[in-house]
Amino acid sequence: MTATDDPFALQDSSLLRRQPYIDGQWQTGDGPALAVINPATGTRLGEVETLSAQAVARAISAAEAALPAWKALPARERAARLERWQELILEHLDDLARIMTLEQGKPLAEARGEIAYGASFAKWFAEEAVRAYGEIVPTPARDRRVLVLREAIGVCAAITPWNFPSAMIVRKSAPALAAGCTLVLKPAETTPFSALALAELAHRAALPAGVFNVVLGEPPAIGKVFSAHPAVRKLSFTGSTRTGRILLAQAAEQIQKVTLELGGNAPFIVFEDADFDAAIDGAIAAKFRNAGQVCVAVNRIFVHESLFARFTERFAARAAALKVGHGLDPDVQVGPLINEAALQRIRALLEDAETRGAKIITGGKSHKLGGLFFEPTVVTGAGPEARIWREEIFGPLVTVTSFRDEAEALRLANATEYGLASYFYTRELGRLFRVAEALQYGMIGVNVPFVSSECAPFGGVKASGIGREGSRHGIEEYLEIKAVWVAGM
Ligand code: SIN
Repeated sequence: MTATDDPFALQDSSLLRRQPYIDGQWQTGDGPALAVINPATGTRLGEVETLSAQAVARAISAAEAALPAWKALPARERAARLERWQELILEHLDDLARIMTLEQGKPLAEARGEIAYGASFAKWFAEEAVRAYGEIVPTPARDRRVLVLREAIGVCAAITPWNFPSAMIVRKSAPALAAGCTLVLKPAETTPFSALALAELAHRAALPAGVFNVVLGEPPAIGKVFSAHPAVRKLSFTGSTRTGRILLAQAAEQIQKVTLELGGNAPFIVFEDADFDAAIDGAIAAKFRNAGQVCVAVNRIFVHESLFARFTERFAARAAALKVGHGLDPDVQVGPLINEAALQRIRALLEDAETRGAKIITGGKSHKLGGLFFEPTVVTGAGPEARIWREEIFGPLVTVTSFRDEAEALRLANATEYGLASYFYTRELGRLFRVAEALQYGMIGVNVPFVSSECAPFGGVKASGIGREGSRHGIEEYLEIKAVWVAGM
């Protein structure tokens, strides 16, 4: 390949790795090669080597062998490696963002934001590593105490999605490594280059061999190896609720601890006392980021009846004005969908809504650029029986519905099996507390369209998952509690 036909054109071309990373080395794959496609152009970016189930089991053995020394390393030393990883990620932000935009499709500015967001978890958990200490508890007996130790749970497995190909990896790996665990990661097969570039930087950050491993291959087969292997004590997964259910059932085999960050069906409520302009800006940001392919993206907008017509008109006009196109174009705000199946699904959701009486206010069809580009689409008149109301949309499509009062807004917002993110706009303090307490969601944005940060717990309730990532709670997912009874004092 010549420099001119290299689609990546990176400043540091050694970030572009094509092999799994196990035990501190790039491994030759023993499975079929996997092609990586640019969703914006449909062209092939390259291919990566994959592994058989037996080779994945060897990666777990490498993580198992590396565990005792890594766990025993003083927390400050583990933290130093994580801090170095963060520095390297930020130093290579431009290249990492470019890799991401090319293989995932999101606008370059969003890709840059994601790299920085991901790196923040390495820094945060480096800081948490040194605070994972225990307690001494008095007991009913005078001569006895209980030492409560918090220890690394062991070898962890992580499965990460394509919609955030970098941040989800660091959000899972950093707390695991900070806690003293070792990790085997399976990134999404559509976006492996972002994951392998992170592995290259982890290598440069001097993470010891076997501490951080990346395997590539067939997802269900790898999931089965992860859940069947007795050394794997913890599985962390971000992805669909359907796959989460399968993994949860499989985790029962070895009684593995799980963190599951699954699908969402976020409501966005605009009360009559909301700052109208802020609500419009917020709805646009919370819906169309990453072309709507976000688990915390808005699915259903509920607007007080007094504002409904004005809101719908303004929101639809703003959606229609979003620039759709190739993510490397600096003006583009909405990239392509990830693949043909995602495009067909959006079409099917829309068709279903229309047959149930929904009306398209803007968009509704493939974008004039063709390929995997779809117009930002706003519909009204979809009810609870429509698929776009009940299912996670994962695309640039949203429904707007009016409500009469707070009680109705809450009833509509909570009428879903999901419970990940929700948003509402109000200027009334009492309502802020009432509504935040009544919403059955793990995360709530009040007058703000983002709920993602290294400092806040991220996760859902109901069918949206188990456990939390980020914040001081994130490291707990990778720690086990041990009670040591001491007598004879
Ligand atoms: C996700 O969609 O899986 C994560 C989104 C985020 O961290 O903001």
